[in-house]
Amino acid sequence: MDKPTVLITRRWPEAVEKAMTSNFDVTLNEKDTPMSAEQLQKALQEYDAICPCVTDQMPAELFRGDNIKSRIIGNYGVGYNHIAIDEAKARGLVVTNTPDVLTDATADLAMTLMLMIARRAGEGEKQLRDGQWSGWYPTHLMGTDITGKTLGIVGMGRIGQAMAEKAHFGFGMRILYHNRKPIPDTDARRLQAEYCTELTWLMSKSDFVAIHCPSSPLTRYMINEKTLAYMRPDAYLINTSRGDVVEEKALIKFLQKGLIAGAGLDVYEQEPSVPEELLSLENVVLLPHLGSATEETRVAMGMRVLGNLNAFFNGDTPPDQL
Ligand code: 8YV
Repeated sequence: MDKPTVLITRRWPEAVEKAMTSNFDVTLNEKDTPMSAEQLQKALQEYDAICPCVTDQMPAELFRGDNIKSRIIGNYGVGYNHIAIDEAKARGLVVTNTPDVLTDATADLAMTLMLMIARRAGEGEKQLRDGQWSGWYPTHLMGTDITGKTLGIVGMGRIGQAMAEKAHFGFGMRILYHNRKPIPDTDARRLQAEYCTELTWLMSKSDFVAIHCPSSPLTRYMINEKTLAYMRPDAYLINTSRGDVVEEKALIKFLQKGLIAGAGLDVYEQEPSVPEELLSLENVVLLPHLGSATEETRVAMGMRVLGNLNAFFNGDTPPDQL
């Protein structure tokens, strides 16, 4: 029997491309550039499976077209807001993602951003590389401690809880969290995490607010002019989830006016475009969507896609079916 045909929309680490190629009839996007809507539309008509990632926009219109051949979308990533999943399912496609395997890498990056912005590491590195470091002095680039401070986590899923764990046990931070519902008591007690029904209450009490909720119509612009107004002028915002959870314009205004102390961002509203106003601010650390970017994690993500496709084409329910 012929192997199922699979399109992988961007280059993956070698080990997982190899593993995929040995099980399926794989087409790789050799140019490694984001796929256009037309290319994706065509791919849906040509391949049994498509493995997209965050750079591939798959809106509802794509699934309204004729002659859809694909039966499964094996997304490379845990977030799937770039895929109109209801429409895909309505056309009979199975959609899977890659949870668990990127939890620690993403939480580690949120810790990185928190430490970098608190300790002004980005500013310091830039100063040194620019040849502007004149030597040590007592008031040079003084930041703020994170140890013992309060971390407010918005979205206490896998990644939120992993960050809480690292911050609480590693840095003695007090954990507040806002979530659709409280986490199980045993987990909350272990982390000494306090549930905040009101997002604004969490924002007013936190030294650092870290966003870990998925992007959805419910969370879009959840951090906006109104909610940001609850943060203290010495507090920092960290975002490693999705850019559109934060109203970028409002955040820029708060940063420019010093209404909050700073922000550490890994995600943006219109990636890869980052507003000029953000680029020119000193009180931000800006990373290029590196949340899951470790060799181990990116291989594990690919293996997770492979597992989902294997199950599907063997007639089983994929473990990560959405
Ligand atoms: C991925 C991510 O690298 O998995 C996610 O949701 O945000 C990233 O860590 C990216 O989405 C891959 O598609």
